[in-house]
Amino acid sequence: MSEHLSPSALLAWYAESKRDLPWRHTDDAWKILLSEILLQQTQVSRGIHYWQKLVKRFPTPQSMADAEVDEVLHLWQGAGYYSRARRLHALSVQVCLPTIEGGFNGNLPLTAPALLTLPGIGPYTAAAVASIAYGEPVACVDGNIRRVMARQSKRLDPSVKEVETWANAVLYHDDAGDWNQALMELGATVCTPKRPLCGQCPVASTCAGKSTPLLYPQPKKVKRKRLDLKCTLRFDTNGLPELVQRGNDGLLAGMWGPPMGDGIDVTGLEYLGVVEHTLSHRDIFVEVWHGSCHRGTEPSTVALSSLDRKILALGGI
Ligand code: ADE
Repeated sequence: MSEHLSPSALLAWYAESKRDLPWRHTDDAWKILLSEILLQQTQVSRGIHYWQKLVKRFPTPQSMADAEVDEVLHLWQGAGYYSRARRLHALSVQVCLPTIEGGFNGNLPLTAPALLTLPGIGPYTAAAVASIAYGEPVACVDGNIRRVMARQSKRLDPSVKEVETWANAVLYHDDAGDWNQALMELGATVCTPKRPLCGQCPVASTCAGKSTPLLYPQPKKVKRKRLDLKCTLRFDTNGLPELVQRGNDGLLAGMWGPPMGDGIDVTGLEYLGVVEHTLSHRDIFVEVWHGSCHRGTEPSTVALSSLDRKILALGGI
């Protein structure tokens, strides 16, 4: 068993070096929850902008529960992984139910296990929110923490269970929120995947992997699936595109865009080109076909994904 990293060195480093992020100035669990859901799949730099828009429009669970899910999607447009927005809305509705109906009267529940019962909340988010907002001594595990663990312990491919065991063993119970954030911050800014700054690391003295950090953890080979789609981009006489709302399933569920699918009829339409779009697990190729329609929709009034924006751009919008 390797020596555990020093809590005081890591916490002192965090106090001194942490990034000034807006959600670090609040102890409101709802606002912290919004930040954690956004940061799961959105970079911090982009997350700040979306977080500011979200907390302004939806300062409480009730304000979101009172809104339509379409408005949440509209605000989320461009941030990707739209199922997060849909589940967040469902979460707000559930939180605002009365207790006898399984809700929490408009207040987020106060423990990690209770948070875990809500839509869209997994072990990471439950532990992050409970530790940061309530000081509950629960360890959280994300990709940054996994990398710190793998290097500290020279592990090539630690399992979730092993990272959890490590995170629980090193957890600093008296300030679990700062502790979890300090570990994540270390992974995000010092113990980075490609160019770790071991010379600046506050816990280098216990790091078994510091002479060859790039070996740990072994990169996971993500094989992206190729997805080939066709899309019809039809304009009305005012130059407005035909936009439809997608159904409840799939990557772009609930978002608006030109009709798109794998079996779309394009006879009689003019070929415009291909739009490529990369998501973490998918390479999407969309053939775009141009035509006319009776009546289009003003794009700014509906929620569009980045892929749909690229398609509209190909059509000159
Ligand atoms: N990544 C996700 N949440 C974070 C947090 N609270 N601090 C640092 N990095 C994070």
